[in-house]
Amino acid sequence: MQQLTTHHLEYAWQQAWTHGDVSALTDLMAPDYRRVSRSSGATLTAAELEEEILSIRQGFPDIETTIDSLVAEEERLVVFWSTRGTHTESFLGVPPTGRTVKTYGTNLITLHDGQIVHEEVTWDGTEMLHSLGIRHLSDAGSPVQPVRTDDLSGSPDPEILKTFNRQFVTGVTVVTTQDDEGRPRGLAVNAYTSVSLEPPLVLVCIQKSSSTYPALFSATHLGINILGTRQRETIATFASKASDKFASVDWHPAPAGSPLIDGSPASLEAEIRDRFQAKTHTVFICRVGHAEVTDADPMLYKAGSFFDSDGLTQI
Ligand SMILES: Cc1cc2nc3c(=O)[nH]c(=O)nc-3n(C[C@H](O)[C@H](O)[C@H](O)COP(=O)(O)O)c2cc1C
Repeated sequence: MQQLTTHHLEYAWQQAWTHGDVSALTDLMAPDYRRVSRSSGATLTAAELEEEILSIRQGFPDIETTIDSLVAEEERLVVFWSTRGTHTESFLGVPPTGRTVKTYGTNLITLHDGQIVHEEVTWDGTEMLHSLGIRHLSDAGSPVQPVRTDDLSGSPDPEILKTFNRQFVTGVTVVTTQDDEGRPRGLAVNAYTSVSLEPPLVLVCIQKSSSTYPALFSATHLGINILGTRQRETIATFASKASDKFASVDWHPAPAGSPLIDGSPASLEAEIRDRFQAKTHTVFICRVGHAEVTDADPMLYKAGSFFDSDGLTQI
């Protein structure tokens, strides 16, 4: 190594990742520099790497990166690094969760004439991304984009699907949580499904445009209340955008604090285990930890109207 010392690289690395001065790092790169991800095969140029660093720093403004070990051997360097940051700003379309994540990686750097010409990155970000509800990064490279599900566009047209959904009879739930300041939040949801009994898993689908969504996304637990025939007004409240929907209902906190609405035929509290991104909605997969059941009759929902489930004829 002639023009590039390990000390120089460490300094530039810190400048770029911890302080956002990305050119300090990319100035060390040859014009034909390429960075290849071993897991996805994606290749970035120096300019694309700059964009990626800035995009990550935007989502995790307090990011701090450390070079844990650096091995130099003629024209090759191996950098073992770790990074810690708090997800306080939107990242890849995921609203801030407030979570601090730590992740580790290894870069194999090839030098030529004292400049970095090639870099091979081994980084398993699965756990970190998983904790933010993102399954994996796209192969597309920069700026980093989440691959969340398969391409969901196409037929049938929404009108047909709407008509299809109107033929499906469901109950109605109110999904609840607490916001950052401990205030109860909730919305009406009929996209509830029991997933399995062992383990006790349930799911709900929540639109990202809901004002309850940011609180739900960053919560560890949520409540699901199955509403009854005597709670017609309650459902109207929770289907609205009222600022304090809990002002007009009695409720009590479940063991982990999720609001459970008094008088509901059944209520549960569950720990959020997975958050699958599906374009406009997030599918929350949750493990049930607490359930309460009464003999009140549940409300039915069909084609935009609510019905009494008492006195139904069995066929
Ligand atoms: C019967 C019924 C079922 C609903 N199901 C869902 C649902 O499954 N997921 C969802 O995100 N919104 C659902 N909504 C819509 C929300 O309750 C509604 O948009 C509400 O105003 C959101 O309130 P927020 O923005 O204060 O969270 C449903 C509404 C009704 C009336």
